[in-house]
Amino acid sequence: MAGISFDQLEGSIWLDGKIVPWSEAKMHVLTHGLHYGSSVFEGQRAYGGEIFKLEEHTKRLHESAEVLGFTIPWSDEQINDACRQMLVENNLKDAYLRPVAWRGSEMMGVSAQANTIHLAIAAWDWPSYYSPEERLKGIRMDMAEYRRPDPSTAPFKSKAAGLYMICTISKHAAEAKGYSDALMLDWQGRIAEATSANVFFVQDGAIHTPLADCFLDGITRRTVIDLARARGIEVIERRIMPEEMEVFEECFLTGSAAEVTPVSEIGPYSFAPGNICKLMIEDYMAAVQPSAEKMLIAS
Ligand SMILES: Cc1ncc(COP(=O)(O)O)c(C=O)c1O
Repeated sequence: MAGISFDQLEGSIWLDGKIVPWSEAKMHVLTHGLHYGSSVFEGQRAYGGEIFKLEEHTKRLHESAEVLGFTIPWSDEQINDACRQMLVENNLKDAYLRPVAWRGSEMMGVSAQANTIHLAIAAWDWPSYYSPEERLKGIRMDMAEYRRPDPSTAPFKSKAAGLYMICTISKHAAEAKGYSDALMLDWQGRIAEATSANVFFVQDGAIHTPLADCFLDGITRRTVIDLARARGIEVIERRIMPEEMEVFEECFLTGSAAEVTPVSEIGPYSFAPGNICKLMIEDYMAAVQPSAEKMLIAS
């Protein structure tokens, strides 16, 4: 069951350049972002007070907005500072941060040429709960009904709120059947990704992952590919058909929220989280730790 509602939490939120009490971070119901999905966001984690790959997340936030045709009126540096400020203001060290930008209320219709652009940044406590042993049990996933759309029908390079509509439907359907998540195919029937994370498979010591040509090329995805290659593990990015899951031995998801999460089941296919899952969890958890240099400055 859900815990305390997110609008009831305590603390402060950065809203359009001001720090406001949590309960006062509000917008009007006639907001374009709410009606027409003109909203983009990021999800990023802080470990020991340092936000992992903050610069990359902020760059992607700006790029996501540009893809939807709007410019966030704050520089990278201002957004990065605001994110760090949210950790300090809310006394957080291991946390999740949610920057979100959207078109405001000046015009109400598909066209929103005159609408102002808003930005909010919230942060809340979210430690990594699972020990590597617990994680290695793996999660159970269903196959999703919806597919990632053809790139000519949706702006897939944007982390746009509207693209999550089919993710929520798919995740709810999976949860209703007792699964944790769902695997989405792409518009051509190839394996794409989970509802909020990228997917990897292992066969004969090599890692296989779908080409990110119609879904988000996650920051964690790229980090894990680099970590695996640094270990000398072969990583093959290619088109993968669902039937190939029959021969894959291990499977894991990656994402800023999911970190590295092994998978034990997808629909009729089973996997045994093993050595490569374990190595990738360990390497990723080592990579996200705050740098020794920053720790010294903070102490
Ligand atoms: C649909 C989707 N794919 C992939 C990812 C992984 O992206 P990242 O590793 O940048 O968090 C996310 C998480 O934001 C996501 O929502």
